[in-house]
Amino acid sequence: MIVRNLGVRLVAVMVLAAGSFPAFSKTCTLSIDGTDTMQFSAKELSVAADCTEVQLTLKHTGKLPAAAMGHNWVLTTTADFGDVSKAAIAAGAAKGYVPEGDARVIAATKMIGGGESTTLTFSTAKLKAGGDYTFFCSFPGHSVLMKGKFNFG
Ligand code: CO
Repeated sequence: MIVRNLGVRLVAVMVLAAGSFPAFSKTCTLSIDGTDTMQFSAKELSVAADCTEVQLTLKHTGKLPAAAMGHNWVLTTTADFGDVSKAAIAAGAAKGYVPEGDARVIAATKMIGGGESTTLTFSTAKLKAGGDYTFFCSFPGHSVLMKGKFNFG
């Protein structure tokens, strides 16, 4: 019993000292638009390192259907971006062009068409402050134009 209490106290002290497990959750919101001309409204998105969750809203401001001009918002490390964008095409339309169960995908919204919007909430637990991240649309061919830098920290 004494040993167990000591253990719990030790962990509590370590958590406070490390500061890597925030005592309070903080949800930070982001919004971005996609257009019929295959563009995102931002080339860079940033959230502070004390955000424990990100709530991102993607809005398709165009008129074209998802089958022709679908947009989603996918987050990977910049190192994984190229391979994941290829895997997304291989995953196909039925999977919303997101490879299923792929740990390299940090976050991904559903694919939407003109006039639609979608909101995604994801934890920042997998992100490293100051890390190199890229967001993109994984619809075939779109990530050439539809990509940007994601900053955490
Ligand atoms: Co797109």
